[in-house]
Amino acid sequence: MDSLISKITSIGAQTLKDIDAASDLPTLEGFRVSVLGKKGSLSEVLKGLGSASPEERPKIGAAANEVKAKVESALEAKREKLEAKELEGKLAKERIDVSIPSRKLHRGALHPITQTTRRMVDIFSRLGFDLMTGPEIETDYFCFEAVNIPADHPARDQQDTFFMGPGLVLRTQTTAIQTRAMRGQKWPIRVLSPGAVYRKDNDATHSPMFHQMEGLWIDKDVKMSDLKGTLEFFAREIFGEATKIRLRPSYFSFVEPGAEVDVSCFKCGGKDAGCKVCKGSGWLEILGAGMVHPKLLELAGYDPKEVSGFAFGIGIDRVAMILNEIPDLRLMFAGDQRFLSQF
Ligand code: PHE
Repeated sequence: MDSLISKITSIGAQTLKDIDAASDLPTLEGFRVSVLGKKGSLSEVLKGLGSASPEERPKIGAAANEVKAKVESALEAKREKLEAKELEGKLAKERIDVSIPSRKLHRGALHPITQTTRRMVDIFSRLGFDLMTGPEIETDYFCFEAVNIPADHPARDQQDTFFMGPGLVLRTQTTAIQTRAMRGQKWPIRVLSPGAVYRKDNDATHSPMFHQMEGLWIDKDVKMSDLKGTLEFFAREIFGEATKIRLRPSYFSFVEPGAEVDVSCFKCGGKDAGCKVCKGSGWLEILGAGMVHPKLLELAGYDPKEVSGFAFGIGIDRVAMILNEIPDLRLMFAGDQRFLSQF
């Protein structure tokens, strides 16, 4: 009996030492199996229990249970330690260094023309203009005929207009929208129409595609002074309080009288002969305007004796160039990231 019990005690003592020395979880599990497993050393020793006397058996059993309990609790304690160590190691390895500078996100920006268009729309909205758009592929009728541009007018020349097919052109002016706005509509009318227009032009100040913002105001007693006041308001809002405007007589077939409108140079106010923005002239041309031609009113079914109106067409790109001091119109359509990221 003594030999069995001493075997059990020595297995226990050796196992506790082994457990203490184990440095990782798989090793620990190996010891558990080799001692407590079905074919483990403790189980093997207990197989000799059959040859012990009935009085001895409980003592041997008690000794075995004691060793088993000690080994189990030692295993458990060691497992906890090793698991904690493993977790620590993992945390140390996977540590996030919050002090590392992050990669810079590229922030997009609106195109200068979009920015300018939105500012302009905002200003005219405050005067009660509603937005209205029209197609860029336009009929010859709306682009020319309905706005009093006769068939032999130079604007209809192959040199100036992109023809898209029988009766279709790329609209050369947002004025094409005027008739669309009036057709079948009762006055008063107050619409604002921004959009792309196309002409066969290409140099530093002309691009085959550019943008205009058309304004049309039809009502009882609309006068030239209303047009001037509206444009003055716009000029001051967009270029600054001190801005003045100047109307020069001009001809557009859809207005009478017609004018080209300049704004005073917001950069030098006309005081710098070497000014890069106005080239020393003190003035910048940005739009065409005038009182709606009676023919257009009649075509819309209005009585020119009863109503009148004004119209204007502003070069959005020109306004954007002036505001941002952009020297070449073509820069705005080249899609060069270095240029665009400045806005
Ligand atoms: N459509 C003219 C142009 O393209 C501008 C304009 C619009 C002039 C409205 C008068 C009235 O030059």
